[in-house]
Amino acid sequence: MAADTLSIPAYAKINLSLEVIGRRDDGYHEVATILQTVDLADTVTLRPADGLTVTCDDATLSGEDNIVWNAAVALAKHAGVPPDACIGIEKRIPVAAGLGGGSADAAASLRGLNVLWGLNLPGEDLASVAASLGSDVPFLLTGGAALGTGRGDQLQQLPAVETTCLLLVAPGGTISRKTPTLYGALTPDDYSDGTQTRRLADSAALVTATLTSDSCHNVFTRAALEIFPGLSDVWESVAAVTRFPPRLSGAGPAFFCMPSDETEHVKVEAALQNTGATAYLVRTIIPAQAV
Ligand code: C5P
Repeated sequence: MAADTLSIPAYAKINLSLEVIGRRDDGYHEVATILQTVDLADTVTLRPADGLTVTCDDATLSGEDNIVWNAAVALAKHAGVPPDACIGIEKRIPVAAGLGGGSADAAASLRGLNVLWGLNLPGEDLASVAASLGSDVPFLLTGGAALGTGRGDQLQQLPAVETTCLLLVAPGGTISRKTPTLYGALTPDDYSDGTQTRRLADSAALVTATLTSDSCHNVFTRAALEIFPGLSDVWESVAAVTRFPPRLSGAGPAFFCMPSDETEHVKVEAALQNTGATAYLVRTIIPAQAV
């Protein structure tokens, strides 16, 4: 049975750890990462329609260039149905920040269209379409906590971390072709063998271990602080008033301090005045799979 209108939250992710092991022959890099969803979310709304439209409250993200458009076309092709849907996105996750916003919207669209079009495809089918769209999309189909290997799309679900409050900071801007640029800025000296991330994944207390492990890091930190204009100033302003040091998310420029609380949020907001950066107090979340 096909459905009427569906509204689905698309949760952002952070990387609790991110190592790059080396370059692959297919142009990607082999990674070992721990991904975790947080409760900062876009909303994706899907309605039946003749033809495909993708609109966003940030008009620069409407239309065929949005990854959600590709998601609809790829799923329709996989299932042998026309890509008919009216898809609306309410954007709250900062764009191209390392928080998986576009990937989350694509993952939510795949789940929603599976219902809207009455396809009833199993999770493996959605995961293979998701992997064709981007390395983070398979994880964001389910969220929670997972170890990602391969190009980040080979997932091993991890036990849920205790719900933890953290402070996310998104500096105002980003750069074009961000992810390939950041991967391209890595040198073999930045590579490691993934052991730290795997050890962390085996830890019974993932969050506590994340905080106490000096060697658990994000491989892009050095390059991001060099490449994103103004990031190091924002980073230092935040580090000066938080109990725990900033950690980059994905290829940046967003970063997080964990755990955190409302008192620290107020201090960070004061420290970030006039910088164009935004601070969000969020919680780790295991999304309910209503759709
Ligand atoms: O998979 P996604 O579309 O997010 O990747 C964007 C780009 O980032 C890729 O084209 C590639 O240049 C780089 N990338 C990489 N290794 C990964 C993931 C992404 O080199 N594991």
